[in-house]
Amino acid sequence: ETYADKVKWNPEFKKLDDEDIKYFTSVLNNANDIITDEQDLLFYNEDWMRKYKGQSQLVLKPRTTEQVLEIILYCNKNKLAVVPQGGNTGLVGGSVPVFDEIVLSLANMNKIRSFDDVSGILKCDAGLILENADNFLAENGYIFPLDLGAKGSCFVGGVVATNAGGLRLLRYGSLHGSVLGLEAVLPDGTIYNSMHSLRKDNTGYDLKQLLIGSEGTLGVITGVSILCPSRPQAVNVAFLAVSSYEAVQKVFVGARKELLEILSAFEFMDDKSQILTARHLGLEHPIESGQYPFYILIETSGSNKDHDDEKLETFLGNMMEEGLVDDGIIAQDETQLKSLWTWREAISEASTIGGGVYKYDVSIPLADLYSLVEDTSARLKEAGMVDIDDDSKPVVEAIGYGHVGDGNLHLNVSVREYSKAIEEVLEPFVYEWIQNKKGSISAEHGLGFQKKNYIGYSKSDVEIEMIKDIKNHYDPNGIMNPYKYV
Ligand code: FAD
Ligand code: MLT
Ligand code: ZN
Repeated sequence: ETYADKVKWNPEFKKLDDEDIKYFTSVLNNANDIITDEQDLLFYNEDWMRKYKGQSQLVLKPRTTEQVLEIILYCNKNKLAVVPQGGNTGLVGGSVPVFDEIVLSLANMNKIRSFDDVSGILKCDAGLILENADNFLAENGYIFPLDLGAKGSCFVGGVVATNAGGLRLLRYGSLHGSVLGLEAVLPDGTIYNSMHSLRKDNTGYDLKQLLIGSEGTLGVITGVSILCPSRPQAVNVAFLAVSSYEAVQKVFVGARKELLEILSAFEFMDDKSQILTARHLGLEHPIESGQYPFYILIETSGSNKDHDDEKLETFLGNMMEEGLVDDGIIAQDETQLKSLWTWREAISEASTIGGGVYKYDVSIPLADLYSLVEDTSARLKEAGMVDIDDDSKPVVEAIGYGHVGDGNLHLNVSVREYSKAIEEVLEPFVYEWIQNKKGSISAEHGLGFQKKNYIGYSKSDVEIEMIKDIKNHYDPNGIMNPYKYV
């Protein structure tokens, strides 16, 4: 996409020159930590969906909080705009520059600082890859309280800056609860340090909450202190087929009631998402896509395998007897368990099968969750735009899936090209639809660049003013991730 029609370059920002690069070179001391080569810059300039592309001429990869501080102080003094970047897996165009902003990558700050194996509190650098954090915790009998399809690439700091939700929020709650403290560099050179180990602390405002989900607009998160639960010893996965969205809701009610304390994920996928995933993976669907309109993945996590097996089997028996579940599989071993999860986790990649994807990540009251996919599909059909098998149509398919357990739907419109015409069919239609249902236009991915003009669909004027006040207070020059939602 080009941005010229959406946003203008801010002439108050300074253009990068050789003097600036000389300064950053003196701060970082290591040639590998400064990227100016055009080819090497590509990864940092383009997002995961290949939808947003900036033109940054400089990537800085500091190794210490002090280096971050010196960079930010200099940028603030000289009005050089900065985009903090983690694993660059964000899905709203927030992690890449819009114009020529400097990219500050946390990739070199990737150490575990400490781990307390009594409390389960992990303290780490913001650039630690989520999967590496979780592997370390596994060795110690603990689990990271967040999991998502991008775990191999995204950073702990990136998920905190986004307040990502993921596949087990149902069980472990939001990062607003599990993050105990942060370290961050603010534009005026303050190092905000709250790397606490305290579960409870009611001494005034909980300031770290401002940074959780701030999407790089207030400061650079450099360290994270997070409470991690014990790793479950017994994990089961069931993959079910149901014949209506009504049944999805009833099975959810049943799962919460009967599986109660061992329920750790409840994900749903429509048939269209499974057909795309089967094409993407080149595999046969475990149950048969094209046969049922909806699929459900249920995960249980507990400490006693026999107990959990029995509970799950009884639950599934009851659901089948009540005619709510038509078909299903329970993973028999670790390999099958992982493979069943793939049919859920690989949807993100499958959604880009035609070359691009428009993603909408919304919270809506459960009863209405799927109607958004139906209404959007109808609208695309009316416009004559969609056909999964006809390459001459711009849209492949509109699919729905997500974290039913959290009231969070992912509507993905898989496309063969990004175009103004498709965007006009989808927006503001989708946002208006959500506003009418009193939902949120971003359940977990944030606003970034994609939704910069749509915040008003989910926040009141008063709330938007308060957000701007906070932004202006901490970042009066507006250098932190400009052109995005604030
Ligand atoms: P980036 O993409 O690099 O950055 C994201 C935002 O945070 C940007 O605005 C950036 O400026 C800011 N930022 C990054 N690091 C810092 C820092 N240290 N300090 C200040 N600001 C910073 N999200 C979900 O919520 N649930 C899911 O289930 C889920 N699944 C996904 C599956 C796939 C395959 C992919 C590609 C993405 C998925 N996401 C999901 C999107 C999710 O937002 C990201 O994966 C993750 O939160 C971003 O982490 P990151 O390190 O890549 O951050
Ligand atoms: C997921 O839950 O898989 C991601 O948040 C959705 C996405 O890729 O849009
Ligand atoms: Zn998600």
